[in-house]
Amino acid sequence: MSAAGAAFDTEAVQRIRAAIAGARSVAVLTGAGMSAESGIPTFRDALTGLWAKFDPQDLASIEGFRADPQRVWDWYAERRQGVCRAEPNAGHRALARWAREHPGRMCVVTQNVDDLHQRAGQPDVVRLHGDILWLQWLDECIERPACDATATAVPGRPPRCKRCGNLARPAVVWFGEMLPPAALERAEQVAASCDVMLVVGTSGAVWPAAGLAGRARRAGSTVVIVNPHDSDIDGEARFVLRGTAAQALPLLLA
Ligand code: OAD
Repeated sequence: MSAAGAAFDTEAVQRIRAAIAGARSVAVLTGAGMSAESGIPTFRDALTGLWAKFDPQDLASIEGFRADPQRVWDWYAERRQGVCRAEPNAGHRALARWAREHPGRMCVVTQNVDDLHQRAGQPDVVRLHGDILWLQWLDECIERPACDATATAVPGRPPRCKRCGNLARPAVVWFGEMLPPAALERAEQVAASCDVMLVVGTSGAVWPAAGLAGRARRAGSTVVIVNPHDSDIDGEARFVLRGTAAQALPLLLA
Protein backbone atom coordinates (compact mmCIF):
# COMPACT_ATOMS: atom_id res chain seq x y z
CA MET A 1 0.00 0.00 0.00
CA SER A 2 1.30 3.47 -0.81
CA ALA A 3 0.34 6.43 1.32
CA ALA A 4 0.66 9.83 -0.27
CA GLY A 5 1.00 13.04 1.70
CA ALA A 6 -0.88 16.28 1.17
CA ALA A 7 1.40 16.98 -1.79
CA PHE A 8 0.51 13.60 -3.25
CA ASP A 9 3.08 10.91 -3.99
CA THR A 10 3.44 11.40 -7.73
CA GLU A 11 4.27 7.77 -8.42
CA ALA A 12 1.09 6.62 -6.66
CA VAL A 13 -0.93 9.22 -8.55
CA GLN A 14 0.53 8.06 -11.89
CA ARG A 15 -0.25 4.43 -11.10
CA ILE A 16 -3.83 5.24 -10.06
CA ARG A 17 -4.33 7.34 -13.19
CA ALA A 18 -3.06 4.47 -15.34
CA ALA A 19 -5.44 2.05 -13.59
CA ILE A 20 -8.36 4.40 -14.19
CA ALA A 21 -7.42 4.94 -17.83
CA GLY A 22 -7.32 1.19 -18.42
CA ALA A 23 -10.51 0.40 -16.48
CA ARG A 24 -13.63 -0.73 -18.26
CA SER A 25 -15.58 0.01 -15.11
CA VAL A 26 -14.84 2.49 -12.32
CA ALA A 27 -16.91 2.34 -9.14
CA VAL A 28 -16.87 5.29 -6.75
CA LEU A 29 -18.06 4.82 -3.18
CA THR A 30 -18.65 8.16 -1.50
CA GLY A 31 -19.39 9.21 2.06
CA ALA A 32 -19.92 12.42 3.96
CA GLY A 33 -16.32 13.61 3.39
CA MET A 34 -17.18 13.95 -0.30
CA SER A 35 -19.46 16.88 0.52
CA ALA A 36 -17.40 18.34 3.40
CA GLU A 37 -15.75 20.93 1.16
CA SER A 38 -19.23 22.01 0.03
CA GLY A 39 -19.93 22.95 3.65
CA ILE A 40 -22.02 19.92 4.66
CA PRO A 41 -20.82 18.49 7.99
CA THR A 42 -19.67 14.88 8.24
CA PHE A 43 -20.91 12.51 10.96
CA ARG A 44 -17.81 11.16 12.70
CA ASP A 45 -15.09 13.82 12.40
CA ALA A 46 -13.95 14.44 15.97
CA LEU A 47 -15.00 18.06 16.54
CA THR A 48 -17.17 18.98 13.57
CA GLY A 49 -19.03 15.70 12.95
CA LEU A 50 -22.78 15.63 13.62
CA TRP A 51 -22.50 12.55 15.82
CA ALA A 52 -19.98 14.40 18.02
CA LYS A 53 -22.79 16.83 18.92
CA PHE A 54 -25.97 14.78 18.63
CA ASP A 55 -27.02 11.27 19.60
CA PRO A 56 -27.86 9.26 16.47
CA GLN A 57 -30.32 7.21 18.51
CA ASP A 58 -32.39 10.39 19.07
CA LEU A 59 -32.14 11.82 15.56
CA ALA A 60 -31.58 8.90 13.22
CA SER A 61 -33.82 6.11 14.40
CA ILE A 62 -37.52 5.39 14.17
CA GLU A 63 -37.70 5.23 17.99
CA GLY A 64 -36.16 8.71 18.22
CA PHE A 65 -38.68 10.06 15.70
CA ARG A 66 -41.65 8.51 17.49
CA ALA A 67 -40.40 9.89 20.82
CA ASP A 68 -40.05 13.48 19.55
CA PRO A 69 -41.19 13.91 15.92
CA GLN A 70 -41.00 17.69 16.05
CA ARG A 71 -37.39 17.78 17.22
CA VAL A 72 -36.27 15.27 14.60
CA TRP A 73 -38.24 17.02 11.86
CA ASP A 74 -36.70 20.39 12.73
CA TRP A 75 -33.18 18.92 12.74
CA TYR A 76 -33.68 17.49 9.26
CA ALA A 77 -35.32 20.71 8.06
CA GLU A 78 -32.17 22.61 9.09
CA ARG A 79 -29.91 20.06 7.38
CA ARG A 80 -32.11 20.23 4.28
CA GLN A 81 -31.58 23.99 4.13
CA GLY A 82 -27.83 23.42 4.38
CA VAL A 83 -27.97 20.98 1.46
CA CYS A 84 -30.01 23.43 -0.65
CA ARG A 85 -27.50 26.22 0.03
CA ALA A 86 -24.48 24.00 -0.77
CA GLU A 87 -22.89 23.69 -4.20
CA PRO A 88 -21.01 20.73 -5.69
CA ASN A 89 -17.25 21.04 -5.09
CA ALA A 90 -14.30 20.37 -7.39
CA GLY A 91 -14.40 16.67 -6.44
CA HIS A 92 -18.05 16.23 -7.49
CA ARG A 93 -17.36 18.12 -10.71
CA ALA A 94 -14.27 16.05 -11.57
CA LEU A 95 -16.23 12.80 -11.16
CA ALA A 96 -19.14 14.06 -13.25
CA ARG A 97 -16.87 15.37 -16.00
CA TRP A 98 -14.99 12.05 -16.24
CA ALA A 99 -18.26 10.08 -16.34
CA ARG A 100 -19.66 12.25 -19.13
CA GLU A 101 -16.44 11.92 -21.12
CA HIS A 102 -16.40 8.12 -20.65
CA PRO A 103 -20.04 7.09 -21.03
CA GLY A 104 -21.09 3.90 -19.28
CA ARG A 105 -17.78 3.42 -17.44
CA MET A 106 -18.45 5.02 -14.04
CA CYS A 107 -21.04 4.36 -11.36
CA VAL A 108 -21.14 6.39 -8.15
CA VAL A 109 -22.51 4.57 -5.11
CA THR A 110 -23.16 7.13 -2.43
CA GLN A 111 -24.05 7.01 1.24
CA ASN A 112 -24.83 10.71 1.07
CA VAL A 113 -28.38 11.92 1.31
CA ASP A 114 -27.62 15.26 -0.38
CA ASP A 115 -28.03 15.80 -4.13
CA LEU A 116 -24.59 17.22 -4.94
CA HIS A 117 -23.50 14.39 -7.27
CA GLN A 118 -26.73 14.85 -9.21
CA ARG A 119 -26.38 18.64 -9.36
CA ALA A 120 -22.80 18.24 -10.62
CA GLY A 121 -24.32 16.28 -13.54
CA GLN A 122 -23.22 12.76 -12.48
CA PRO A 123 -25.09 10.37 -14.77
CA ASP A 124 -25.25 7.12 -12.77
CA VAL A 125 -25.70 7.46 -9.00
CA VAL A 126 -26.89 4.71 -6.66
CA ARG A 127 -28.20 6.13 -3.37
CA LEU A 128 -27.77 3.69 -0.52
CA HIS A 129 -29.09 5.84 2.33
CA GLY A 130 -31.97 7.72 0.71
CA ASP A 131 -32.66 11.34 -0.11
CA ILE A 132 -32.99 14.06 2.53
CA LEU A 133 -34.99 16.27 0.15
CA TRP A 134 -37.76 13.69 -0.19
CA LEU A 135 -40.56 12.53 2.13
CA GLN A 136 -41.99 9.17 3.02
CA TRP A 137 -44.70 8.04 5.45
CA LEU A 138 -43.75 7.01 8.96
CA ASP A 139 -46.24 4.13 8.96
CA GLU A 140 -47.36 2.08 6.02
CA CYS A 141 -50.35 3.84 4.46
CA ILE A 142 -53.63 2.00 5.02
CA GLU A 143 -55.41 3.66 2.07
CA ARG A 144 -55.74 1.91 -1.27
CA PRO A 145 -54.28 3.38 -3.40
CA ALA A 146 -51.70 4.58 -0.86
CA CYS A 147 -51.57 8.32 -0.17
CA ASP A 148 -48.78 10.16 -1.96
CA ALA A 149 -46.48 11.76 0.64
CA THR A 150 -45.57 14.64 -1.65
CA ALA A 151 -49.21 15.38 -2.55
CA THR A 152 -51.28 14.76 0.57
CA ALA A 153 -48.92 15.96 3.33
CA VAL A 154 -50.03 19.28 4.77
CA PRO A 155 -47.44 21.63 6.34
CA GLY A 156 -46.66 21.03 9.99
CA ARG A 157 -43.72 19.88 12.07
CA PRO A 158 -43.71 17.18 10.81
CA PRO A 159 -46.26 17.39 7.98
CA ARG A 160 -49.25 15.07 8.26
CA CYS A 161 -51.39 13.34 5.64
CA LYS A 162 -54.63 15.30 5.17
CA ARG A 163 -56.49 12.05 4.38
CA CYS A 164 -55.33 9.64 7.08
CA GLY A 165 -53.19 11.59 9.57
CA ASN A 166 -50.02 9.60 8.94
CA LEU A 167 -46.82 11.53 9.75
CA ALA A 168 -44.28 12.34 7.06
CA ARG A 169 -40.60 11.66 7.76
CA PRO A 170 -37.42 12.30 5.81
CA ALA A 171 -36.79 9.61 3.17
CA VAL A 172 -33.42 8.61 4.63
CA VAL A 173 -32.32 5.27 6.01
CA TRP A 174 -32.14 5.34 9.79
CA PHE A 175 -30.16 3.06 12.09
CA GLY A 176 -31.80 -0.34 12.30
CA GLU A 177 -33.52 0.04 8.91
CA MET A 178 -32.93 -1.91 5.71
CA LEU A 179 -31.23 -0.24 2.79
CA PRO A 180 -33.36 0.02 -0.36
CA PRO A 181 -32.92 -3.52 -1.78
CA ALA A 182 -32.58 -2.51 -5.44
CA ALA A 183 -29.90 0.08 -4.62
CA LEU A 184 -27.94 -2.38 -2.47
CA GLU A 185 -28.15 -5.09 -5.12
CA ARG A 186 -26.87 -2.73 -7.82
CA ALA A 187 -24.07 -1.49 -5.52
CA GLU A 188 -22.93 -5.05 -4.82
CA GLN A 189 -23.00 -5.87 -8.51
CA VAL A 190 -20.96 -2.75 -9.34
CA ALA A 191 -18.43 -3.54 -6.57
CA ALA A 192 -18.04 -7.13 -7.73
CA SER A 193 -17.44 -6.18 -11.37
CA CYS A 194 -15.41 -2.95 -11.31
CA ASP A 195 -11.73 -2.75 -12.27
CA VAL A 196 -11.08 0.26 -10.03
CA MET A 197 -12.95 1.44 -6.95
CA LEU A 198 -12.38 4.94 -5.59
CA VAL A 199 -13.50 5.17 -1.97
CA VAL A 200 -13.89 8.83 -1.10
CA GLY A 201 -14.67 10.46 2.23
CA THR A 202 -16.08 7.59 4.23
CA SER A 203 -15.05 6.36 7.68
CA GLY A 204 -16.03 2.82 6.67
CA ALA A 205 -17.90 2.51 9.96
CA VAL A 206 -21.37 1.80 8.57
CA TRP A 207 -22.36 -1.49 7.00
CA PRO A 208 -23.28 -2.81 4.52
CA ALA A 209 -21.79 0.15 2.58
CA ALA A 210 -18.37 -0.36 4.21
CA GLY A 211 -18.26 -3.94 2.94
CA LEU A 212 -18.30 -2.84 -0.70
CA ALA A 213 -14.58 -1.97 -0.70
CA GLY A 214 -13.64 -5.48 0.46
CA ARG A 215 -15.97 -6.97 -2.10
CA ALA A 216 -14.24 -5.00 -4.86
CA ARG A 217 -10.76 -5.98 -3.63
CA ARG A 218 -11.65 -9.66 -3.45
CA ALA A 219 -12.95 -9.48 -7.01
CA GLY A 220 -9.53 -8.20 -8.13
CA SER A 221 -10.31 -4.49 -8.34
CA THR A 222 -7.71 -1.81 -7.54
CA VAL A 223 -9.15 -0.07 -4.48
CA VAL A 224 -8.05 3.53 -3.89
CA ILE A 225 -8.95 5.44 -0.73
CA VAL A 226 -9.10 9.23 -0.66
CA ASN A 227 -9.37 10.51 2.89
CA PRO A 228 -7.32 12.98 4.96
CA HIS A 229 -7.55 10.61 7.95
CA ASP A 230 -7.44 6.88 8.68
CA SER A 231 -10.57 4.92 7.93
CA ASP A 232 -11.76 1.52 9.13
CA ILE A 233 -11.32 0.09 5.63
CA ASP A 234 -7.84 1.34 4.73
CA GLY A 235 -6.71 -2.30 4.79
CA GLU A 236 -8.77 -2.98 1.65
CA ALA A 237 -6.87 -0.42 -0.42
CA ARG A 238 -3.93 -0.77 -2.76
CA PHE A 239 -3.45 3.00 -2.58
CA VAL A 240 -4.36 5.45 0.16
CA LEU A 241 -4.22 9.15 -0.73
CA ARG A 242 -4.15 11.30 2.39
CA GLY A 243 -5.99 14.33 1.08
CA THR A 244 -9.42 15.71 0.42
CA ALA A 245 -11.93 14.93 -2.29
CA ALA A 246 -11.62 18.35 -3.91
CA GLN A 247 -7.80 18.09 -3.95
CA ALA A 248 -7.39 14.50 -5.08
CA LEU A 249 -10.20 13.79 -7.55
CA PRO A 250 -9.37 16.53 -10.10
CA LEU A 251 -5.79 15.21 -10.07
CA LEU A 252 -6.76 11.55 -10.47
CA LEU A 253 -9.39 12.18 -13.14
CA ALA A 254 -7.79 14.99 -15.14
P1 OAD B 1 -18.38 9.73 8.43
O1 OAD B 1 -18.67 11.04 9.08
O2 OAD B 1 -18.46 8.52 9.27
O3 OAD B 1 -16.94 9.78 7.78
C1 OAD B 1 -16.54 10.87 6.99
C2 OAD B 1 -15.14 10.58 6.51
O4 OAD B 1 -14.78 11.63 5.60
C3 OAD B 1 -14.08 10.55 7.61
O5 OAD B 1 -13.30 9.38 7.46
C4 OAD B 1 -13.24 11.81 7.35
O6 OAD B 1 -11.86 11.61 7.65
C5 OAD B 1 -13.42 11.99 5.85
N1 OAD B 1 -13.29 13.38 5.37
C6 OAD B 1 -13.51 14.54 6.03
N2 OAD B 1 -13.33 15.58 5.21
C7 OAD B 1 -12.99 15.08 4.00
C8 OAD B 1 -12.71 15.64 2.73
N3 OAD B 1 -12.74 16.97 2.54
N4 OAD B 1 -12.41 14.82 1.70
C9 OAD B 1 -12.38 13.48 1.88
N5 OAD B 1 -12.65 12.88 3.05
C10 OAD B 1 -12.96 13.66 4.10
O7 OAD B 1 -19.36 9.65 7.16
P2 OAD B 1 -19.82 8.35 6.36
O8 OAD B 1 -18.71 7.38 6.25
O9 OAD B 1 -20.47 8.82 5.13
O10 OAD B 1 -25.99 7.57 7.52
O11 OAD B 1 -20.91 7.75 7.34
C11 OAD B 1 -21.71 6.69 6.93
C12 OAD B 1 -23.14 6.90 7.34
O12 OAD B 1 -23.21 7.16 8.75
C13 OAD B 1 -23.80 8.10 6.71
O13 OAD B 1 -24.33 7.83 5.43
C14 OAD B 1 -24.88 8.46 7.68
C15 OAD B 1 -24.16 8.21 8.99
O14 OAD B 1 -24.98 7.87 10.06
C16 OAD B 1 -27.18 8.08 7.04
O15 OAD B 1 -27.36 9.25 6.81
C17 OAD B 1 -28.23 7.07 6.86
